[in-house]
This record gives sequence, structure tokens and C-alpha cells, in this order.
Amino acid sequence: MRATEQQDSWASLLETFSKMSVAPPPEWAPIFGPLRTGARDAMMVLGQLGQTLDGRIATVTGHSKYINGPAGLTHLHRVRAVVDAVVVGVGTAVADNPRLNVRLVTGPHPARVVIDPKARLEPDALVWLDDGARRIVIVADQVKPNTPNGVEVISLPSRNGKLAPADILKALFTLGLKRILIEGGADTVSRFMQAGCLDRLHVIVAPIIMGSGRPGFSLPAIEHMDQAVRIKMHPHPLEDEMLFDCDLSAQRIALV
Ligand SMILES: NC(=O)c1ccc[n+]([C@@H]2O[C@H](COP(=O)([O-])OP(=O)(O)OC[C@H]3O[C@@H](n4cnc5c(N)ncnc54)[C@H](OP(=O)(O)O)[C@@H]3O)[C@@H](O)[C@H]2O)c1
Repeated sequence: MRATEQQDSWASLLETFSKMSVAPPPEWAPIFGPLRTGARDAMMVLGQLGQTLDGRIATVTGHSKYINGPAGLTHLHRVRAVVDAVVVGVGTAVADNPRLNVRLVTGPHPARVVIDPKARLEPDALVWLDDGARRIVIVADQVKPNTPNGVEVISLPSRNGKLAPADILKALFTLGLKRILIEGGADTVSRFMQAGCLDRLHVIVAPIIMGSGRPGFSLPAIEHMDQAVRIKMHPHPLEDEMLFDCDLSAQRIALV
């Protein structure tokens, strides 16, 4: 497809994305079609991780910019453009200082959400820049947020310092945010996965072997292979990278 044709068809996808009576353009349907509705209810929650061939999402020092190349990053920005909110853990907000907006394609900026139970993130973090998008911090109750004016605050009960992923999603739903991208890092995506709070997972594998570094998933240890989760999965080549679109609907709990 020529670049202008691709831009037109992307614009058409953006325009019709929420109109369930209109089918998405066929070139986008396989990847973006499943993101239009949730597996169990009115929410759709997508996890994403960009990783190396050997399953690493950052170096041992936490450097991850950028594991994915242009195709993988453009895909990530397209996904940001169709979701209502993009969520990261405070570990990512501190390590990467990301903007979490849409720059590599045309499309609206999603709301930006940081899970920061102890209010560790500095108020001058780029994620809080006022560009018109909603900005939301999620803290544990009793914790005073450390954010600039205009950032909305969600306070949730914590158990042993942990916020239940389902509580986070329900609170976002109450704010009108229904289609959610959990963009990282590994700890945050793993918590949502373990809690049965993901409809889908996009793992974008780059042609890199790191040989060391931080793993993509951190889940409770198992002893036997039959305890491992085998996932329904569709591969989609993105130039020299591979998107593994995993369907987690079988384990997704009801949220609303
Ligand atoms: N390759 C990729 O796709 C990708 C994407 C994003 C990030 N990264 C990399 O990943 C690294 C950061 O990931 P990470 O796993 O260390 O951290 P993270 O997932 O970004 O953040 C984890 C922290 O967020 C808070 N948190 C998240 N969910 C919570 C919950 N349900 N309840 C309570 N607290 C919660 C906790 O903060 P407290 O510690 O304050 O309790 C937790 O320690 C960086 O090196 C970054 O570059 C890679």
C-alpha cells in the first residue's frame, strides 16, 4: 500500500473505530478489530510489552529506549490513538520519563494514567505536561498526591501496598475511560495479567538478543508445564518485528 493510501485508510479506521455497525478497513481489521470490544463487558483492556527474542524488556540498568524499531513503535502509537487511556506503573514513568502521547501517526492523545501508590513521581515529569489530554494519578488512600494542577487523582485502598487491578479499572470506567492500554512495565502488566484483568496482550518481539536484562513477565513460580497458561495467539509481522496478539478472554474477570 502506498503511504498516502495508508494514511487515508488509517484516518478511516480512526473515524469508524467506535461505530460498531461499520466494519474496520480490511487492512486494519485483523489487529484493530478485536480492540473495539471487551471480552466480557463494556471494558477492553490491552496489555503490551516490547521485548527481545530472549524475552527482555530492558537492560539490567533499566534502559529500554528503544527495543522496538520504527514498525513496532508506530504500532504502539496507533494503539494509543484508539484507546481512551494509557496506563503505566511509576517505575516506567521514573525510568523512561515518557510522554505517552500520539506522535508517530495522526490521532487523538489518550488520557495518561500513572499508578503511583506512594506518590513517588516528581511533578515535572513529562507525562504531566498539559497538552489538553486528561492526566490521572492513582495513589493509595491516605497518600497525598505530588502532582501539578489539573491532574485528576484516584485514591484506592491498598492491601500490603498493592492496589487491586480490578479496582483501578473500575475507577477508570467511572471516569468514562473504557478502552485501556496497560503499556508497562513488566511489573504492572504482570499484575494485571495475574489478576485476570486483560482481554488481550500485544507482545512485540524485536530481532535482538540481549542475553541479560529485565524479563517481560513476573508471575508466581510453577513446578509443572501443565500449570503454564497456553494462550490463543495470532502472529502479525510488522516489518522485521513480530506482533503476537494474545487472546486472554478465557481468563478475564468481569469488571463492570
Ligand atoms: N519494553 C517495554 O515494552 C517497556 C514498557 C514499559 C517499561 N519498560 C521498562 O520497564 C522498566 C520499568 O518496569 P517495572 O516493571 O520496573 O515497573 P513498572 O511496572 O513501570 O512500575 C511498577 C511500580 O508501579 C506501582 N504499581 C503498579 N501497579 C501497581 C499495583 N497494582 N499496586 C500497587 N502498586 C503498583 C508500584 O510502585 P511502588 O514501587 O511505588 O510501590 C510498582 O513498583 C523500565 O526499565 C522501563 O524502561 C519497558
